[in-house]
Amino acid sequence: MTDAIAQPLYDTFARADLRFERGEGVWLVTETGERYLDFAAGIAVNSLGHSHPHLVEALKSQGEKLWHVSNVYEIPGQRRLGQRLVDATFADKVFFTNSGAEALECAIKTARRYHYVNGHPERFRIITFEGAFHGRTLATIAAGGQEKYLEGFGPKVEGFDQVPFGDEKALKAAIGPETAAILIEPIQGEGGVRPVPDEDLRALRKLCDDEGILLILDEVQTGAGRTGKLFAHEWSGIRPDIMAVAKGIGGGFPLGACLATAEAAKGMTAGVHGTTYGGNPLAMAVGNAVLDVILEEGFLEHVQKIALTMKQGLASIADRYPAVISEVRGRGLLIGLKSVVPNTTLVQALRDEHFLTVGAGDNVIRLLPPLVASEEEAREALSRIEAAAERLSVAARQKSA
Ligand SMILES: Cc1ncc(COP(=O)(O)O)c(C=O)c1O
Repeated sequence: MTDAIAQPLYDTFARADLRFERGEGVWLVTETGERYLDFAAGIAVNSLGHSHPHLVEALKSQGEKLWHVSNVYEIPGQRRLGQRLVDATFADKVFFTNSGAEALECAIKTARRYHYVNGHPERFRIITFEGAFHGRTLATIAAGGQEKYLEGFGPKVEGFDQVPFGDEKALKAAIGPETAAILIEPIQGEGGVRPVPDEDLRALRKLCDDEGILLILDEVQTGAGRTGKLFAHEWSGIRPDIMAVAKGIGGGFPLGACLATAEAAKGMTAGVHGTTYGGNPLAMAVGNAVLDVILEEGFLEHVQKIALTMKQGLASIADRYPAVISEVRGRGLLIGLKSVVPNTTLVQALRDEHFLTVGAGDNVIRLLPPLVASEEEAREALSRIEAAAERLSVAARQKSA
């Protein structure tokens, strides 16, 4: 641990003492040449792994031409990426941002403006779910509703009502004349890899239609192929009105987007929202390159295939090491292992195997490998998880003996 006063950075991150110098596919290499198998992928960001040649080429060639021009001008890469996202999804309209939280801010503003231009300015409240995570801006910490992120930052931004996860009765009771929208992650990521069952998403869609309110999906973590579909909600067959994306869509370059139907976006007219960097030529070049790969025939099938290998292998490990892992959950390559030991202990034991994962709520650890991981790399991951589970299991037995 570095001394709090002597080092220049905010102390907001509890950083592991690891210094990576470069990345190659699913591998990260430290300054001293040690190789780590990266199944955290920048928390679902490096969707195509590290130094993917197509992304490197896109960034380099755009970097030599034009970095930034401002949204006062046409940005051809933005039109192209916007159109491709529209063609591939429910959406008719796209607003580009630099991060997930900004995409959520745009989603929240879009929903409120929709009701405002419909003559219902009183409809501004958004219903969210316990355990949610939507970012760290003042509005998104209010949306997430977690006390640990709200504490000490003054009055909570008004207009968010939270209900328990999966409690239909509480949800219905929370809808009132001021409700504008329901906001939900198809799978809670930070909250502990808690999937919303497909039938519940369909019920949410119906509820929103019946009540004349909008359905906003936060697919910042679940999108860009992570679950084996381009977006996780596709498994349920529903279409949201608004969706926030980021992380994997930029493959490591800061890029987010808010997608909406033309109807939902009708209040977002000239001048009501903006951004300096969002949709800049560099981000658009990389975003288009990421889509080139993810939309390639067979790519999402590959994700599903690797996910199956992981699921089967992990189920077997959980069976054999019940004192370490009690449950495997999630969808596609958004995998949660419910830890029996403190999840920080499991993350550290895996790190000792040179295997990177990331913790989540509910004492879960997340496996979020690059979507390009091969069968061989998945098997390597399983063998490292097994080695860590074996060590922790032996330690637990010794402790209880
Ligand atoms: C579901 C979800 N929404 C929003 C965010 C916020 O994204 P960002 O950190 O890019 O602002 C995150 C980040 O972890 C997330 O997982």
